[in-house]
Amino acid sequence: LVLVVDFGAQYAQLIARRVREARVYSELVPHTMPVAEMLARKPKAIILSGGPSSVYAEGAPSIDSGIFTAGVPVFGMCYGFQLMANGLGGEVAATGAREYGRTAVTVAEPGTLLAGIPAEHNVWMSHGDSVVAAPEGFTVLASTEIVPVAAFENVEAKLAGVQWHPEVMHSENGQRVLEHFLWNIAGCRKTWTMANLVEEQVAAIKEQIGDGQAICALSGGVDSAVAAALVQRAIGDRLTCVYVDHGMMRQGETEQVRNDFEAVFDTLDVVDASEQFLGKLAGVTDPETKRKIIGHEFINTFDEAQVRVFGELPAGATAFLVQGTLYPDVVESGGGAGTSNIKSHHNVGGLPDDMNMELVEPLRALFKDEVRAVGEQLGLPERMVWRQPFPGPGLGIRIIGAVTRERLDIVRHADAIAREEMTAAGLDRDIWQMPVVLLADVRSVGVQGDGRTYGHPIVLRPVTSEDAMTADWARLPYEVLEKISTRITNEVADVNRVTVDITSKPPGTIEWE
Ligand code: XMP
Repeated sequence: LVLVVDFGAQYAQLIARRVREARVYSELVPHTMPVAEMLARKPKAIILSGGPSSVYAEGAPSIDSGIFTAGVPVFGMCYGFQLMANGLGGEVAATGAREYGRTAVTVAEPGTLLAGIPAEHNVWMSHGDSVVAAPEGFTVLASTEIVPVAAFENVEAKLAGVQWHPEVMHSENGQRVLEHFLWNIAGCRKTWTMANLVEEQVAAIKEQIGDGQAICALSGGVDSAVAAALVQRAIGDRLTCVYVDHGMMRQGETEQVRNDFEAVFDTLDVVDASEQFLGKLAGVTDPETKRKIIGHEFINTFDEAQVRVFGELPAGATAFLVQGTLYPDVVESGGGAGTSNIKSHHNVGGLPDDMNMELVEPLRALFKDEVRAVGEQLGLPERMVWRQPFPGPGLGIRIIGAVTRERLDIVRHADAIAREEMTAAGLDRDIWQMPVVLLADVRSVGVQGDGRTYGHPIVLRPVTSEDAMTADWARLPYEVLEKISTRITNEVADVNRVTVDITSKPPGTIEWE
């Protein structure tokens, strides 16, 4: 176990993930956790993340310097690097010189940490203060134009640090630096594999649920499918899977989910709750309100399903609700320390306080590609594992304006055409997903046949992404766009215009609401 201490860095979880990529198990802990408690978990190493503060700022998050002399290997990145320098008698100064973004570093003495890494390479920096003198016993390994000490190590004491962010994609050799620390300085063994992850999660789920019963909200997507498969492995037929048709699914989706999932899960309960959902959504146009209503209805439906499946629970007994919440959902719903709420994902925000089920979220620390790897490890069918993401609130958040059955039919039809053409062109794995959005309150003038039309625009939103936290618009071939556009305007009633959204994320999000 490697603990990553979070000092409020936006990408702290990314560090934990990079450590796992180095095949060493890792978890995030807050910097407010007492050092004794961290050490009690017997970590093989501790990594101090970056953070937004200056070590000298009033109220700056700090850590007991005892952590550096407890005999546990420690690696500091950015702010963590400065804390280490400061805590061991080195010198950190506000030189006034700042470095943000791509920065060239010069390796003077590779040591163990930077062994085999080019003497000149580019890394990603984001700092105001700088380390100007390393603590005693440390070797200075690298510098930049304005920072004399950009990396150091004390191999004997198993301590090292870098001023930059090796965890981000833009830092060249970042993963190698991290691996040198983990494998060669801290002596961590490469034992973490997907098979281990599955085993650990199954054990954790067994412990949480005990001899209780669980219900899983299957959405049809890979996240909930993998979460459910893990739970089924842990508790067998004490898990009941419920798939809620809220009336905002895509064409043919409910039948397909039923077929695919019945083959994998012992118990599958398909509930048609479309009347209920659409009734509650009538006239609602505000995106967050839509999301909250949908989230709320989901929970109500599950509560009802739970009573139907298990009967009334004896007093004191808890029922468990399994959800496929991923790390990006947690961050974007404001769940990470110091991160702000972008959207209430239905499976994280929107949960009422009086919900009478306890959540089981085995994928909370993982990114989508890790989840797919777990799915493959569990032997789930390829179609399930590689299905493109589709949001829980479904087409309801792809109608800009109030949701009605007629509008759902329009966007559903346009989406079916778009997906058919993307599949025909062999592009499914090249893009992350392509929301098809109906601007229901917008009309524009067109001419079709010999007459004037006054119809709605459809927006195609093809994106590429690694983890949905950031995305770029996908450069689809013109012929494919042309085919989709022609078919949608010819075949879908009330649509006379097709547009393509060419905004990256940020600033746009992937979904329009
Ligand atoms: P945004 O729009 O936030 O979307 O850039 C990021 C990714 O998450 C999906 N998404 C959701 N998935 N419940 C989900 O399960 C939701 O409420 C939800 N909202 C957005 C979206 O399709 C994209 O892949």
